[in-house]
Amino acid sequence: MSRGSRVLVVTPTYDERDSLPVTYERLRKAVPDADFLVVDDGSPDGTGEIADGWAETDDAVHVLHRSGKQGLGTAYIAGFRWALERGYDVVVEMDADGSHRPEDLPRLLAALEDPAVDGVVGSRWVPGGRVVNWPVHREVLSRGANTYTRLAMGIGVHDATGGFRAYRAATLKAIDLDTVSSQGYCFQVDMTWRILRSGGRIVEVPITFVEREAGTSKMSGNIVGEALVNVTRWGAEHRLEQLRALVGGRRA
Ligand code: GDD
Ligand code: MN
Repeated sequence: MSRGSRVLVVTPTYDERDSLPVTYERLRKAVPDADFLVVDDGSPDGTGEIADGWAETDDAVHVLHRSGKQGLGTAYIAGFRWALERGYDVVVEMDADGSHRPEDLPRLLAALEDPAVDGVVGSRWVPGGRVVNWPVHREVLSRGANTYTRLAMGIGVHDATGGFRAYRAATLKAIDLDTVSSQGYCFQVDMTWRILRSGGRIVEVPITFVEREAGTSKMSGNIVGEALVNVTRWGAEHRLEQLRALVGGRRA
């Protein structure tokens, strides 16, 4: 990103007491000029209060407290609004648990320096990308979900479910955040789809995804179910549109 750009890293948290402090330290070192917004859903383990403590002494840290676990998607939307209201130029999505290495963020931001690029996805499933310590069932799920998404929706992005990303503020302004309804991790596919449909260009940068060492994943059957239903619906709608255009084109 060009010099002087204001970057906000948004990190949703739910019970990340043991992992967020390490991520915070690494992020401040790796990207000292970026601000950090923690969107905490009233974590019972006190994650939100830990972040409040940093905010008292570190001007770069901000905390958004929400009441109760409301899903990753709505946490990000709240964070995006917060960023746009405050005039940030670039908004980053990053997990709290160390899976997204803060040290990889400068490469994502560098890719956004190209004015033709609207969003950057840190990708596990392009050459150079990899996963470390992920259980086989998660790798199978992620690869399968991404292959299905690519085929059903006809998009070229290889890691549309990945959650380590950098967007221009203008990219977020171009989509109607009010209409993004995905609550779980298919929020990432939702954002990808909306950016592509609004004419935006997304590039993928290879990352190493490292499975968390502390805490537990919030992935659930409901999250997978929501993703499967939504991706199938978006894909079907898109194919129907293509078919209509084809039939309409023949008639003309
Ligand atoms: N505020 C809030 N509310 N945060 C949440 C919620 C929620 O309801 N659910 C999850 N989070 C936070 C976690 O605390 C963590 O910081 C981040 O979202 C990712 O959650 P994990 O539970 O660690 O996700 P994962 O490792 O299983 O899933 C990874 O892979 C998915 C599929 O590729 C992540 O990278 C996801 O972003 C990705 O979609
Ligand atoms: Mn994780």
